Amino acid sequence: MKKLILDLDTGVDDALAIAYALGSPEVELIGITGTYGNVLLEQGVRNALAVTDILGHPEVKVYKGIEHSRTTDSFEVLEISKFIHGDNGIGDVEIPDSPREAESESAVDFIIDAVKTYGKDLVYVPTGPMTNIAAAIEKAPEIKDEIGDIVLMGGALTVPGNCNACMEANISQDPEAADLLFRSGAPATMIGLDVTLQTLLTYKETARWRDLGTKAGTFLADMADFYIKAYETTSPHLGGCGLHDPLAVGVAVDPTLVSLLPINMKVDVDGPTRGRTIGDETRLNDPHKTMKVALGVDVPRFLDEFMTRITTLAQH
Ligand code: BDR
Ligand code: CA
Repeated sequence: MKKLILDLDTGVDDALAIAYALGSPEVELIGITGTYGNVLLEQGVRNALAVTDILGHPEVKVYKGIEHSRTTDSFEVLEISKFIHGDNGIGDVEIPDSPREAESESAVDFIIDAVKTYGKDLVYVPTGPMTNIAAAIEKAPEIKDEIGDIVLMGGALTVPGNCNACMEANISQDPEAADLLFRSGAPATMIGLDVTLQTLLTYKETARWRDLGTKAGTFLADMADFYIKAYETTSPHLGGCGLHDPLAVGVAVDPTLVSLLPINMKVDVDGPTRGRTIGDETRLNDPHKTMKVALGVDVPRFLDEFMTRITTLAQH
């Protein structure tokens, strides 16, 4: 069975990504590694523990990652992140803190150990900055040849960024880390804004979770409604909120949900296009493509999978 690690800056869509993974019987979620972005590392770890509890899966272990990029001394949550995900990252919905703590092993060591244990059966899904996986590849470079796939939410190839014209939020936090990953030779599938802004959640769907009358259903509906409301202000043309992080999990479970362009990518780290994800001209003609970029998505099939899996999970 395919093993999944989710690497999350647990905001609203990261929490929905947890629900998608837990609602997918084809895969085993072997751990969550915490990163920073939508929230501080500590808050993201707290959220991951509390969310796995409320979804009925307290067996999922959570590991603390790195607190900020190596090009910065500290990390501060942006006002726009608070607006989109709430001050607590989960739409300002109050859920009980988990009685559990994060594991003592670091996220980086856990990732390396998991690759050694599961090899090609392991799919790592980063849906925040790429800081932890970049550090893992630096510490144990051989894992790039041993891991099954890295299905990352981040970047954009055919549409503008969501931070500025060039930058998508996850890549923007640590462009150097993403560039290291993209050029490392590790297999990687980029699920960027090209496809995630086509998969939208609306109040119609969240009402189905609320109607379940369960704690999990009410939590998911309240949290997602906060996110949809924020999108009404930031992206009124969309008519819903982007299911960024759940789509990355969806593709990790079933890659046929998207159409993929094999291409060796890089991230601009200098100049006015800092943070842009684009084809690496120096490896354009290399017949060996290590990366794939999702350019199309079967929207109805993904939304159906998303709703079925999460609604079934939230029934209990
Ligand atoms: C990404 O940025 C974060 O706000 C979301 O959780 C998602 O991972 C979208 O650009
Ligand atoms: Ca995220």
